[in-house]
Amino acid sequence: MGLRKIDLSQAPSLLYPFIPVVVTAEYDGRATGMLAAWWTQLSHKPLLLGVAVAPERYTYKVLLEADGFAFNFLDFSLVDKTPYLGDVSERFYRDKIRRGGFTIKKGDALGVPYIAESAAALEMKKVDRFVTGDHDWFVGEVVSAYANEAFVNGRWDYKKYRPLMYLGRTKRPERVYRYYATTDELEIKPVEYASGEFRESAVKRHRVLDEFRMLARSLGETTLDEALKAFKELASRFSLEEDDARIYVEELIRSGDLRIRRP
Ligand SMILES: Cc1cc2nc3c(=O)[nH]c(=O)nc-3n(C[C@H](O)[C@H](O)[C@H](O)COP(=O)(O)O)c2cc1C
Repeated sequence: MGLRKIDLSQAPSLLYPFIPVVVTAEYDGRATGMLAAWWTQLSHKPLLLGVAVAPERYTYKVLLEADGFAFNFLDFSLVDKTPYLGDVSERFYRDKIRRGGFTIKKGDALGVPYIAESAAALEMKKVDRFVTGDHDWFVGEVVSAYANEAFVNGRWDYKKYRPLMYLGRTKRPERVYRYYATTDELEIKPVEYASGEFRESAVKRHRVLDEFRMLARSLGETTLDEALKAFKELASRFSLEEDDARIYVEELIRSGDLRIRRP
């Protein structure tokens, strides 16, 4: 069994399944939201998340104006409520979140609305927006987080949390169905991190990063030129390529370990 070339128009269907979130936000006293499958984590520290929203969505208008927004993760038990969040528009079906039987709560940090019935919610400060094709990419920095009792010791208990997954939809003019699934048959298999033949290279990788981090800290606040010189020296000691020094400089500036004096 090999790969066969498929029509490009079918490429988007390859991307499923998605775990959609409900993006909620408020403007002018009106809290609303919508299901969004196209979201991702963009950064660890700070914790940045992004979501793609089309201008047609009423939520888009709210996101343009709002200072923050939230991601709400739904349990599969709420699947019958999804039409309120992903089929109808607040523009033509007002107060859809409350009409769906959901309760709006306000985040501690910024007062961003989130859905109390969700399994988890992340309150975010809006930090950026990019125009990307036919959707805009809204970026938020997580400022507070909430989870229900299925989240234990920093982990999901997948017996209690059955994430809502989206498998796509059928197309008009036939009757349109959206397909949802969950992880009841989830096969969980622990795979040990970089064991066996990978061990040596993984150890080296971490040692190199640690050494660069120590070097960065020992330099204190420095100029980019000085940092590069020192990093190149260390890179050659590990037989790395010369431009790897630049890459590590970039990595450690971003992690906050290397502080560059502005000229
Ligand atoms: C599972 C699912 C995922 C969706 N993902 C997105 C998405 O990532 N971006 C987007 O703009 N619309 C997405 N939509 C469509 C919006 O949720 C939908 O158009 C909604 O009715 C918009 O509501 P609003 O006009 O009140 O904002 C998705 C819909 C569903 C059901």
